[in-house]
Amino acid sequence: MATKTTNRNWKGRLALVSLSLFIFSSCIKEEKVVVNSSNAVISLTIPHFPSMEMESDKLITRERAELGEDLFFDPILSRNFDISCSSCHLTNLAFTDGLKVSVGTEGRMHNRNSPTLFNVGWHPYFFMDGGNPSLESQVIGPIEEHREMDLPFTEAIARVAADANYNEKFQRVFDLPVSAYTLSLALATYERTLVSYRSAFDEYYYYGDTLALTNQEKRGLALFKSEALSCVSCHQFPLTTDFSFQNNGLYEDYTADPGRARVTNNLAEHEGKFKVAMLRNIALTGPYMHDGSLSTLSEVIDHYASGGSQHPLKSDLIKGFTISADDKAALIAFLESLTDTVSYKKVY
Ligand code: HEC
Ligand code: HEC
Repeated sequence: MATKTTNRNWKGRLALVSLSLFIFSSCIKEEKVVVNSSNAVISLTIPHFPSMEMESDKLITRERAELGEDLFFDPILSRNFDISCSSCHLTNLAFTDGLKVSVGTEGRMHNRNSPTLFNVGWHPYFFMDGGNPSLESQVIGPIEEHREMDLPFTEAIARVAADANYNEKFQRVFDLPVSAYTLSLALATYERTLVSYRSAFDEYYYYGDTLALTNQEKRGLALFKSEALSCVSCHQFPLTTDFSFQNNGLYEDYTADPGRARVTNNLAEHEGKFKVAMLRNIALTGPYMHDGSLSTLSEVIDHYASGGSQHPLKSDLIKGFTISADDKAALIAFLESLTDTVSYKKVY
């Protein structure tokens, strides 16, 4: 698959994203363009993505994001001071952990695979079953969860507040003490800055660089969009997901994890339905599916080609198909072209 790693000319494309930096001021009339001002508002405008919706008190500033970043990498938020958010969301694995299912404090096994945090700012709800409504409230989940950091949220707040360094930073950044509101806002702000939008696929598909994909990758893209495979029906561009809940035929029996039905208790309509996964950086985020049960992209394609297990709620789009070895290699090459080698760094 590694036919092409060179010759990707990113020069001159720096204007793809306009990171408009404005003075964060209560007085709109004083708005000015300022670069590197620590309390400037960072507006993430990515031309080929929808706009990132957020409430007016949640604007991204560099100071807020940096404070969130400190917390993201700090084991202070786990009961035994042994793990941080980054233990399961590793930077170099597109914020996943490479394990089948995650392992929390004291080696406790989770039942789900760690998802990428890239582009979480665009998710309308969180967790694979959509059980959490906002990035801010999601923060409480891993901190309190027994199989993750296992620390009551009130204790997490008290710990951070008792740290003189954090205390000073929260006051400076928010003009407020450490609280449920400011702690979750800091982490959520950092997460919103984790954006990924410049894979070779983007260069080809949205910016007209016909050489950005090899012929093999282009064939893979055509297969991905073909009626026979229908991948794009659920994994819609540009984010590679339509965020709907779908049963993609992984199992006949979903008692181990009922998916969306865990939240709604409605097995008849929601059993085995999971949020359509994002495929950006997919080559970095294996193993695959909610339980990490498929190890490689080759296994993923075999699954879809087989038509999956019979389950009454399996989507009609999972109908099976025949694919030659050559076409399978092309589809994998295309999926690998979704790896972003450029925007893989801080936007602030
Ligand atoms: C023990 C490993 C572990 C730790 C620690 C952890 N996470 Fe996660 N994270 C997971 C797993 C597993 C999931 C999937 C859970 C689910 O869908 O039910 C997840 C899901 C998420 C999601 C939802 C993504 C989506 O696609 O809906 C976000 C956001 C997130 N984590 C952020 C964080 C933050 C912030 C922290 C630290 C406060 C953190 N995580 C700590 C393992 C972990
Ligand atoms: C009916 C909607 C639907 C169709 C069609 C579909 N998928 Fe998926 N896909 C999903 C859902 C839902 C998940 C998440 C399942 C889970 O977590 O168990 C998923 C997960 C995946 C994953 C794993 C993502 C991860 O991070 O674990 C890959 C890779 C993938 N699909 C590729 C494809 C390809 C390639 C095709 C076409 C052959 C395709 N999908 C067709 C709904 C669909």
